[in-house]
Amino acid sequence: MMDETLRITSFPEIELFKRGKVRDVYDLKDKLLVVSTDRISCFDVVLPTGIPRKGEVLTNLSLFWFGYTKDIVLNHLITAEVNNYPVELLKYKSILKGRSMLVKKAKPIPVECIIRGYLSGSGWKEYQQSQSICGIQLPPGLKESDKLPEPIFTPSTKEDIGHDINVSQDFVEKELGKDITSQLKRLSLALYLKASAYAESKGIIIADTKFEFGLYQDKIILIDEVLTPDSSRFWPKGRYRPGQAQPSFDKQFVRDYLETLVWNKTAPGPELPEEIVLKTSEKYLQAFEMLTGEAL
Ligand SMILES: Nc1ncnc2c1ncn2[C@@H]1O[C@H](COP(=O)(O)OP(=O)(O)O)[C@@H](O)[C@H]1O
Ligand SMILES: [Mg+2]
Repeated sequence: MMDETLRITSFPEIELFKRGKVRDVYDLKDKLLVVSTDRISCFDVVLPTGIPRKGEVLTNLSLFWFGYTKDIVLNHLITAEVNNYPVELLKYKSILKGRSMLVKKAKPIPVECIIRGYLSGSGWKEYQQSQSICGIQLPPGLKESDKLPEPIFTPSTKEDIGHDINVSQDFVEKELGKDITSQLKRLSLALYLKASAYAESKGIIIADTKFEFGLYQDKIILIDEVLTPDSSRFWPKGRYRPGQAQPSFDKQFVRDYLETLVWNKTAPGPELPEEIVLKTSEKYLQAFEMLTGEAL
């Protein structure tokens, strides 16, 4: 079971565009091939152990959301049907099937567009220090995991190395201009509102999420992955108890396990035990099934 993971791809004659923490991206001139591996990163460190079926879940959940949100904003998807990929990729069909997408190559906008509907993670930390997040003033007396009066746009920089840094809307406006910034904010809020209402009806609270956008033929399009357990905090609605950290559908088991180790959270990370791997794999699959109503 544990060896049924794909942690790295290598297609020698296809130019590598970028190896991210989770995805291997290949350059096809005006298009990209995005391959979601089974790698998992935690505290920004890629771990040596893969999670079975994770790449498949990320790919198929993103596909689901690309379809569900296409009335709000165009996205980078061309096709995920391997038979329609460029011929030079066909010999890798068995590896690519179910875990890859052919997408439009965009110019990535260098800001992570984070929307928070609930107070958690770095937002909760910031709130405790300043009663605000990214310069947005919030009401006093909120508890950890409380629902915010309304969802807020809390952008961060996209750092290639190390952790992303929360920034104010003013900061983004100086970098990108007022027009693009207001579009990013409007689109991100609209995406979150539509998706979170849907997810809630399926028993999942989307506490927060991160979108990436790019410019393609002078238009803003949605790129990367969308509304997956890697880019979002998914909480089971039935177990929601504000005033504490929530159990979640993502890397909770992995984080909890890593916290029991003596490890300084820098690379190389430790191997994960089989039990943690299997439980994590199950959580990813469960999130997919709850949201789409289908088994993978
Ligand atoms: N359509 C696209 N055009 C250009 N770059 C993209 C597109 N979609 C995704 N990317 C980039 O590909 C990479 C995906 O790999 P990932 O493992 O998520 O990397 P990271 O470690 O930066 O999170 C990201 O850097 C993302 O910005
Ligand atoms: Mg990423």
